[in-house]
Amino acid sequence: MQRVAIVDPTESTRESLRTLLLGVDFVWLDNECARYEYFADVIRDNPPELAIVALDADKGKALTLIQQLAVEHPALPILTISHDHQALLQSLQKGAKYFLTHPVGLQDILSALRRALGEHSGGGTASGRITQNTTSSVIAVLGSRGGVGTTTIGVNLAATLAADPNHAVALIDLDLALGDADISLEVSGSENISIADLAHNIERLDMNFLRRALAKHEPTGLSILRHPLEIGQVGLIHEQHVERIVNLLKMSYTHLILDLSKGLNPTDLTGLRLADQILLVAQLELASLRNVVRLLHCLGGEEGLVEKIRVVINRQGADTIEEGISIKKAEEVIGKPIFWQIPNESKAVIGARVAGHPLIKYAPRSAVQKSLSGLVDAMYGKTTASSNKGSKGGWGLFGKRG
Ligand SMILES: Nc1ncnc2c1ncn2[C@@H]1O[C@H](COP(=O)(O)OP(=O)(O)O)[C@@H](O)[C@H]1O
Ligand SMILES: [Mg+2]
Repeated sequence: MQRVAIVDPTESTRESLRTLLLGVDFVWLDNECARYEYFADVIRDNPPELAIVALDADKGKALTLIQQLAVEHPALPILTISHDHQALLQSLQKGAKYFLTHPVGLQDILSALRRALGEHSGGGTASGRITQNTTSSVIAVLGSRGGVGTTTIGVNLAATLAADPNHAVALIDLDLALGDADISLEVSGSENISIADLAHNIERLDMNFLRRALAKHEPTGLSILRHPLEIGQVGLIHEQHVERIVNLLKMSYTHLILDLSKGLNPTDLTGLRLADQILLVAQLELASLRNVVRLLHCLGGEEGLVEKIRVVINRQGADTIEEGISIKKAEEVIGKPIFWQIPNESKAVIGARVAGHPLIKYAPRSAVQKSLSGLVDAMYGKTTASSNKGSKGGWGLFGKRG
């Protein structure tokens, strides 16, 4: 994503420019300014990769501004917009490099942006900042039935990833109606902003609002974007909102964990599409494994999804699971290797949830937490162990199997 700042005192054209820019996935509208007089300060304080100056509100002031910007930020590309060809020509003489004539369509702005940003990428930006986060990783966690451990794994996986000081991790609760990820993460002093507020303000989102929307769990540094506070707001959140929000958050976070609902709603499907890896959580019992088969079959209908799925068996060794299905049998039934197994450890898991702190803080030496750390390593290719006999208590294999 490349940062763009615009100045246009005329509200209606500024709004339509903003709407156009929101439709372009490789730019981020960093600043919107309504006064030519303030724009030089805006650029000085927060230099973008491209400045867009609409000339028509006051051509004299606009041209003076362009001259000033060209002197102060010689490497900053400036794009001007006007009805007036003469003014556009003058803007080029003052230092603008690109121009568009009104009315501006999406196609026009796209090709101008590509040209302006393409020619100026790879060094020589006004700020010299690297803004594109190419390493951001999106993990969707999908359950094969209710209560299988989706949220537990999502929250604790996110907290495990957040323990690395090089990571910035956000958990997004996409279980929109009945989500409960926030119960496991006691956050303090946060405003009550949820994904519903972001969806509601999707046209006006800026970096500050986005940052404020996520509550931080201070002990782990993990951020969370909560499900709507009112169930009635769920219908307001569409897949386009989820896509836009995830893409924007990828700019600020190295890892995004999506806790999905069991409804396979359009928003869940969007989450699956946006993910680099999908953890499909199951238990060694009939209902869950049958749903794994059904989900693999259903998602197999869309190109590119099944390849990302890794089946994770949770609560391995639980005596509540009576069917006695072995890992080998489960792999036969689902026709796919089990990627990871997480032991059953109710005391630690329930204790952590009640305390409102992830296992990495509440019970860092628990078997579940060790298994989750191993899962992170396996997901990012840091371990090659094909199997690892259970450390104690017959929890079976904790190793990567495929
Ligand atoms: N590995 C585990 N060991 C013991 N209990 C677990 C484990 N994983 C999940 N649980 C328990 O299972 C219940 C359901 O988990 P949850 O994460 O809410 O499932 P889901 O999000 O799939 O509905 C919770 O009470 C949780 O404490
Ligand atoms: Mg859940």
